[in-house]
Amino acid sequence: MSYRTLDGLDVAGKRVLLRADLNVPVRDGRITDLTRIERLSPTIRELAEKGARVIVCSHFDRPKGKRVPEMSLAPMAVALGEVLGQSVAFADDCLGTVAQTAVAALGNGQVLVLENTRFHAGEEKNDPAMAAELAGLADLFVNDAFSAAHRAHASTEGVAHKLPAYAGRLMQAELEALTKALGTPVRPVLAIVGGSKVSTKLDLLGNLVGRVDLLVIGGAMANTFLAAQGISVGKSLQEAEMHATALEIVAKAKASGCEIVLPVDAVTAAEFRANPPTLTVGVDAIPADAMMLDVGPATVAALNARLSGVKTVVWNGPLGAFETAPFDAATVALAKAVASATQSGALLSVAGGGDTVSALRHAGVSDQFSYVSSAGGAFLEWMEGKTLPGVAALAV
Ligand code: 3PG
Repeated sequence: MSYRTLDGLDVAGKRVLLRADLNVPVRDGRITDLTRIERLSPTIRELAEKGARVIVCSHFDRPKGKRVPEMSLAPMAVALGEVLGQSVAFADDCLGTVAQTAVAALGNGQVLVLENTRFHAGEEKNDPAMAAELAGLADLFVNDAFSAAHRAHASTEGVAHKLPAYAGRLMQAELEALTKALGTPVRPVLAIVGGSKVSTKLDLLGNLVGRVDLLVIGGAMANTFLAAQGISVGKSLQEAEMHATALEIVAKAKASGCEIVLPVDAVTAAEFRANPPTLTVGVDAIPADAMMLDVGPATVAALNARLSGVKTVVWNGPLGAFETAPFDAATVALAKAVASATQSGALLSVAGGGDTVSALRHAGVSDQFSYVSSAGGAFLEWMEGKTLPGVAALAV
């Protein structure tokens, strides 16, 4: 798909509506992670330096079309100003005279954040009237919110048809990295998929087996695959109702020449808590009263061996219950191995999804992958092979 970028775009004196994703993690009213704001800042800086009047819009959380004071974007406007090192104005509404007046007051190179787009019901309905009203605020539309591009909303999709539309630098970086990883990858491609439920990652697994050479399945999801093959997984979390589906995925993989790699050993415990007594056993020897909480060292060694020769790695989902020690060991070890192969130039690595990003950060290697996506749901849908409406709307 081809799309316009900011390259060569003359924005001096123009009003640019920038769809950002300011849906950042907040606890007790404080922003706990500035990553999304930091990653957005190059686009805003570039636009502002070229003399644009930058109007930032975004959703935050899920207020369902109503004004919810705790879901205001006002704190994000302050944080954005701190990251940019310039003052950022805030308009208490993204529509109507409040927004229009704030836009009219903007000078060249200045930045304004509009209040949460989801305070209006038209946003999630992709209401053409709301899209038109947003478009009326600006001369150009720049979408830098890949992480919200799986939503066909007024500020992500609708408005892109009503103004000349461009991909911002973050959107461009995401699309370039993801295309390299799954669109036109250098083979062999190894995908790592973890997480707890097969049922939430069915489309993902179904798409990947047709596109990658090796598919490593970890997390509790692996239990379902093992159990489906008649292996007793004790008290491990698994989905008995997904056994037939797991076998279908295995058959589809075989038919398309994709090798599914399952754990060969397991770190088990009788209860799930930090640092309980553990027993590491082959997957065919999981005690009836224990559960698998991480893949074992033999599996990690086997995965490390598989990494040599692989040219592209795509990762979504941890191998074990990494937030609780010691069940982070395999995820950390594999993350370090992928990072070091990436750093040596042996492979291209792309990871995404909330848990995966936390796991890579926990392993201390999130800056050593080729690209770590700031998207959660959008990354997953893209890995599922779905068209993201916010991206499709940028097509030229
Ligand atoms: C995200 O954090 O994944 C995006 O901002 C999308 O948020 P949503 O799931 O509420 O649409």
